[in-house]
Amino acid sequence: MKIELNDNKVFLNNGNSVQEIHPFWLRERVDGDKFLDKGTQQRLFDPSIMDRKIIIEKAQIKNGFLEVGFNDGVNSRININKLEIEFLNKDTVVKSIPKKMWDSTLKDVKKFKYNDNFHESKEMYDLLISFYEFGFVIIKNVPTKNNFIVDFANSVGSVRRTNFGEYFDVKSKNDPNDLAYTTLPLSPHTDNPYRNPVPCIQLLHCIENEVKGGFSTLVDGFTVTENLKKEDPDAYKILSEVKVRFKFTDKSVVLEDWSELIHLDENKEFKQVRFSPRLDYVPMLEKNKLDLYYKSRKKLSDLYNSEKYRIEFKLEPKDLMMMDNYRILHGRTKFDPKEGKRFLQGCYIDFDSTEGKLRHLKRKFNL
Ligand SMILES: [Fe+2]
Repeated sequence: MKIELNDNKVFLNNGNSVQEIHPFWLRERVDGDKFLDKGTQQRLFDPSIMDRKIIIEKAQIKNGFLEVGFNDGVNSRININKLEIEFLNKDTVVKSIPKKMWDSTLKDVKKFKYNDNFHESKEMYDLLISFYEFGFVIIKNVPTKNNFIVDFANSVGSVRRTNFGEYFDVKSKNDPNDLAYTTLPLSPHTDNPYRNPVPCIQLLHCIENEVKGGFSTLVDGFTVTENLKKEDPDAYKILSEVKVRFKFTDKSVVLEDWSELIHLDENKEFKQVRFSPRLDYVPMLEKNKLDLYYKSRKKLSDLYNSEKYRIEFKLEPKDLMMMDNYRILHGRTKFDPKEGKRFLQGCYIDFDSTEGKLRHLKRKFNL
């Protein structure tokens, strides 16, 4: 990739083709104190109201900078490295981390240990990389006093508050408004599929765990659905096309949202799974189509619930698990409250928290 000049025109040569860069595109990117606010790096001018008839009157390349003068009297030095990153036109931080597929054979996932200044450390950067690779991480030794989970979440980014509050206590209670607050086993599910948008990341912090059961379970929805795509393309197709209604009601709110169980992005690649079979309502479709839908959902459910894909472990007090609610399904085995206390606290954050932190740490440590 190379910038070339010819007759006051600027070209991008990518090795295969040469393309002229629109003068206005460069004019929008002028650098320097007069045009950009030093602290925020935000524009001090509004290109949307500028005359579009911008012409380059002079241009030269010097020491890694494009020095350019426009017909509206503006001269600027533009960093060519910065331009080249923009030419790639893609996220070079988060989306460049490949997802690692995993199943029940997953071993030796690095556990992180909380300490002072953890959120500004290189270890936090490594943690976020691991989070995007596997879809979850476990941090040990996280203080449990005074709802520390909220401090933790707000040090990564910002807590996503819901009608369950800023955080929620997961322990069995009378008159629960969700099965999470019972001693029943919970099969693999994603949280809050009825919200718009669905909370992106769940933090779950173990405060006390004295019971023999109550193991945490995780399943990688990415691995399961990619395998389904190969093994049963018809099932994958219908589950990624039919939108179903997810609903939650309690005394004060009715939440509802529609989505496919396997939600794909604009390139037909994995984006999100939602699975919470106590809350989903498929629309009344033609009988044959529903036949296929029910067969496919059963197949997906069998995979999510199979031992082949599930990891199971016990969270110890001070363990904090952070999981991608768009990728990972979570659950727990049943427990007997007579054996002792089981108390977890949970809260949500969104992807802007982890993405923003990761980009910040990459910049901070020059990685
Ligand atoms: Fe849950």
